[in-house]
Amino acid sequence: MVLPIVAYGHPVLRKKCVDIASDYPGLQQLISDMWETLYASNGVGLAAPQVNVPIRLFLVDSKQLTDHFDEEDRLQFGDEVGIKQVFINAHVLEINGEPWPYNEGCLSIPKIREDIYRPQTVKIAYVDEQFQPHEETYGGITARVILHEYDHIEGKLFIDYLKPLKKKLLRKKLDDIARGKVEVNYKMLFAKA
Ligand code: NI
Repeated sequence: MVLPIVAYGHPVLRKKCVDIASDYPGLQQLISDMWETLYASNGVGLAAPQVNVPIRLFLVDSKQLTDHFDEEDRLQFGDEVGIKQVFINAHVLEINGEPWPYNEGCLSIPKIREDIYRPQTVKIAYVDEQFQPHEETYGGITARVILHEYDHIEGKLFIDYLKPLKKKLLRKKLDDIARGKVEVNYKMLFAKA
């Protein structure tokens, strides 16, 4: 089932999400619904708070990016092969490398894209859908997507990184999104509509 995506302005996007146990009710259904929602909205990552569930769960499909790299992307990212993966109870252990800019967007903040600097690699501990523990280091565009989604489960949004002046310029657009005054081709949930 495709779930509505929570829009900017909803308090659930500001919650620090909590770890879950393996018997969390309806977990497998939630994961399957989140994949469906991700693809229905052409996203590359989706975090549980974005479907109004404040738990430490996010999905990443960076293959959608790496499978369609053009020549310029290949120069920047080499032969990176993306991942399609579920991250549960994720905790960042280390971030490394000179921060680099990338034009980011977010399904919860439609029609706004900005260059955001993030570090190059991330070492992260998490459990998969079978609650098997993993500790893995990611780089490239995959690290970028993971760090964006990880921020969601920490209650952070990519616009938080913008300089005050830039944010001021976006204020009206953000207020419009919060009030439901935005046209998107996927279902959204607005706090103030
Ligand atoms: Ni996002």
